Amino acid sequence: MSLKTPRKDLLDIASLSDEEIEFVLANAVPFKDLFKRSVKKVPTLKGRTVLTLFYEPSTRTRSSFEVAANRLSADVTHFDIESSSVVKGESVLDTVETLESMRADYIVVRHKQSGTPNLIAKNTRASVINAGDGWHAHPTQALLDAFTLREKMRDLRGARALIVGDIQHSRVARSTSLILRRLGMSLAYLAPGSMMPRETPDEVGLFGNWDDALSWRPDVVYLLRVQSERLDEPFFPTAAEYHKNYGLTDARVGILRERGLWLMHPGPVNRGVEITDTGMNYERSLINAQVENGIAVRMSVLYWLRPGALEDS
Ligand code: CP
Repeated sequence: MSLKTPRKDLLDIASLSDEEIEFVLANAVPFKDLFKRSVKKVPTLKGRTVLTLFYEPSTRTRSSFEVAANRLSADVTHFDIESSSVVKGESVLDTVETLESMRADYIVVRHKQSGTPNLIAKNTRASVINAGDGWHAHPTQALLDAFTLREKMRDLRGARALIVGDIQHSRVARSTSLILRRLGMSLAYLAPGSMMPRETPDEVGLFGNWDDALSWRPDVVYLLRVQSERLDEPFFPTAAEYHKNYGLTDARVGILRERGLWLMHPGPVNRGVEITDTGMNYERSLINAQVENGIAVRMSVLYWLRPGALEDS
């Protein structure tokens, strides 16, 4: 499979064509096959440099990109914000100008301000990959979620996903909702009123309690993390209250088990808030598969993007 137009940056899901989404998902399959070999490395990006620039904490996304780049034989450097001149007040663009002088080929960036990866992309020849910006987008999370579901369900057309939790403040909910709908899934949200998005497409079901949401007969339940660090003031009275009304309690895990539903969560989880230990051990949980697939999907993204594509084309 090849694409007519090269793309320099991955900034969101909305700007991708169907063909590009298929390209990334399809090429992640052979990259994942590599993981079964004793030598998991290919020379695809030998001589290329990948910089990870995380202005917000990350466990999965950053390490996943670093493993992905290593497996493609790229040179990987983590730009340590805490010990950099950013703490002395250096602006994002001044930092990027410095990195540009180092001739990085890819910059993987996470920032609390929506739109920062777009700004960086306009000011560098390197391919910029959005690893999460504010409430806006987390495109590689969406791609790995779609890949993980397709691996289990094959064709997603007509399948139903229920997304539960802090949808309003979640870049994961935004990006994953977009891709799952593009692949033909029906979506519904379950959230307290304070966490429900203000505007949703008419086709997306909106529920305020688990009984109604489960009556909709989802195939997949996708739990979101309660992002306390993004909330200036709490949107629910207590964590215990949230858990009782919107969390995946042990009793609700029992219902998922009876019906054979898939369970997903982007991580990191708040145990005892959106999920219990029982939920984490549920046999149809795809949480670990999401992490493993993240590496294959990010290898596919690095393989797909073309640093300097705009200038070259
Ligand atoms: N899913 C996700 O973005 O996790 P991290 O914050 O650990 O990268």
